[in-house]
Amino acid sequence: MAGRAKILVTRAWPEAVEARLTELGAVTFRAPDTPMSAAEFIDAAGRYDAILPTVSDVIPPEFYPAAKGRLRLLASYGVGYNHIDITAARENGITVTNTPGVLTDCTADLAMGLLLAAARRIGEGERETRAGHWAGWRPTHMIGRKVSGATLGIVGFGRIGQAMSRRAHYGFGMEVVFQNRSTVDPEVARAAGNARQLASVIEVAKACDFLSLHCPGGAETAGLIGAEVLAAMKPGAILVNTARGDVVDEDALFAALERGHLGGAGLDVYRGEPALDPRFLDHDSLVLAPHLGSATEETRAAMGHRAIDNLAAFLAGAIPPDRVV
Ligand code: DGY
Repeated sequence: MAGRAKILVTRAWPEAVEARLTELGAVTFRAPDTPMSAAEFIDAAGRYDAILPTVSDVIPPEFYPAAKGRLRLLASYGVGYNHIDITAARENGITVTNTPGVLTDCTADLAMGLLLAAARRIGEGERETRAGHWAGWRPTHMIGRKVSGATLGIVGFGRIGQAMSRRAHYGFGMEVVFQNRSTVDPEVARAAGNARQLASVIEVAKACDFLSLHCPGGAETAGLIGAEVLAAMKPGAILVNTARGDVVDEDALFAALERGHLGGAGLDVYRGEPALDPRFLDHDSLVLAPHLGSATEETRAAMGHRAIDNLAAFLAGAIPPDRVV
């Protein structure tokens, strides 16, 4: 690469991290802190050596051939990379990196928070209290579901799934069963809270009181939690999704809530986010968060540093530590 690398950062990053970025090349910090549009991506395609997008910047298909020969690196700020077409990147000579590891604990913390909030009706209770409708303590008021000792089902037993399992088992005495696309070393499952791997998502759904999703997004898992899986869940069971909105068939979820089969859900991600199907707002049993899994000061800074580590290694001619392709 002749001269200083031209680098585009699509969104505002934590300040301290942005300062470190400027040491690495000629950096353009895109001004609006909104998802980068398809037209902007295509315009940027032939102008930068490296682009640092986030998980909410959806890259259009026309971008990859347009970027061929100029753009060398997409260093994404985030662990999920379903916003990037990995095959198209590879075919057009673009290296892709992500930021795994650094957001594991905070995402599992949020998943546990959503589970507790949905089980113990914390959102509903807060709304009632703020509205001045609380009529005082009584034995039958706002009865939720017991978490301690219940069974947690996990779909996807990678870093975050395992962190969720540890929290549930060691913190709340829960029994944990899980599904994973490959066989997990029984020693790893044991250390993560005596978790038991089952053969399918359906088996996990049947066995658990709470089902928490920690699988990647993308074509392979789109609609994975559909009518069949939801019907297999125990009556009153609760779904937690901090993975990707597309993993859940939202129509099937609404249907399961409408017929009273599910007890509720705690959601951090949505199919068309940030737009929300208005039906979400009608269900008091839903706890809704705006994609906050990694949203702590420490984690957002660590994600930025990790993306920069990848960029720095790439610019120095080394293999970036978190290369996806
Ligand atoms: C990710 O990194 O994939 C999260 O969804 C956002 O932190």
